[in-house]
Amino acid sequence: MKAVVITSPGGPEVLQVQEVEDPVIGDHEVLIKVEATALNRADTIQRKGLHPPPKGASPYPGLECSGTVLAVGKSVARWKVGDQVCALLSGGGYAEKVAVPAGQVLSIPEGVSLRDAASFPEVACTVWSTIFMMSQLSAGETLLVHGGSSGIGTFSIQIAKHLGIRVFVTAGSEEKLSACKNLGADVCINYKTEDFVARVKEETGGKGVDVILDNVGGPYLQKNLDSLGIDGRLFIIGFMGGAATEVNLSCLLARRLTVQAAGLRNRNLENKAKIVAEVEKHVWPAIAAGRVKPIVYKTFPLSEAAEAHRLMEGSSHVGKILLIP
Ligand SMILES: NC(=O)c1ccc[n+]([C@@H]2O[C@H](COP(=O)([O-])OP(=O)(O)OC[C@H]3O[C@@H](n4cnc5c(N)ncnc54)[C@H](OP(=O)(O)O)[C@@H]3O)[C@@H](O)[C@H]2O)c1
Repeated sequence: MKAVVITSPGGPEVLQVQEVEDPVIGDHEVLIKVEATALNRADTIQRKGLHPPPKGASPYPGLECSGTVLAVGKSVARWKVGDQVCALLSGGGYAEKVAVPAGQVLSIPEGVSLRDAASFPEVACTVWSTIFMMSQLSAGETLLVHGGSSGIGTFSIQIAKHLGIRVFVTAGSEEKLSACKNLGADVCINYKTEDFVARVKEETGGKGVDVILDNVGGPYLQKNLDSLGIDGRLFIIGFMGGAATEVNLSCLLARRLTVQAAGLRNRNLENKAKIVAEVEKHVWPAIAAGRVKPIVYKTFPLSEAAEAHRLMEGSSHVGKILLIP
């Protein structure tokens, strides 16, 4: 089959389509003929040699896909050859075929095309497992999402609004903020021209927000803590601004704050299967009801994976970028 190979750690130009061995499935796995895969920031970090795949995972990039089942392992009961599915992967999506544990395979949400379904597994599993399952964000509360126009951000806005949450976002341009507003965000903050802590305080009558989903890390830690209200929860999923910083911890005690962080890719199979099942139960109905839509910015053929990475690293996109084998 054809797959995108990281020929050596480096810039987008190291991504090359090559002929490689087909994946071999185990008893608990499903072989998928890939219809589409979607980019994630983690792919660009893997390409640079800084985010190696977990042990046993495919060496090719790609954390999610949609497609058609080509074969099933002998212990797989739910799926059969010919089923249209999407899946959360530990790698290997940038290819014509991929093997995935059956517990990470999902049905195609109703009303979504097979191709666009590739835009959901990673964002849905990341957002649901963090701010909903772990931070217990619930109706009537407030959420601040940094990187509101990102793949993660555009999904977070929609699912949170659907669940009755007041959503604040930050983004780096008026164009991105307007996209966030159109998706339902209530308070849109341009972090390049405004102090988000001051604006959060102003919009919440001085109280602060209940939950923050953060992809910036170090440089935002103190500001995030300063933006949280009593019993507030900060969830960190990325370090785009850096991982090291110094903070004043006294607010944690005074306002009973929680700081948590997690990655999805390195979770064990049972953990991922549990998250996938929760996502199918709670998120898929919201998609079927038209309350959460796939936000696809641009689609590239697999052979243009390097161009797709350049687009993502240039950060001008809103939502997801797809690759089609
Ligand atoms: N922990 C996990 O399991 C997990 C899973 C999936 C994703 N993530 C993380 O979630 C984040 C979003 O992922 P994605 O795939 O949706 O990415 P994406 O679509 O490429 O979006 C990243 C966004 O972050 C903003 N940004 C970039 N550099 C920044 C900086 N230095 N300071 C502030 N904002 C910055 C950019 O928007 P602006 O122009 O507005 O700055 C950009 O839109 C990434 O950090 C990714 O690694 C984590």
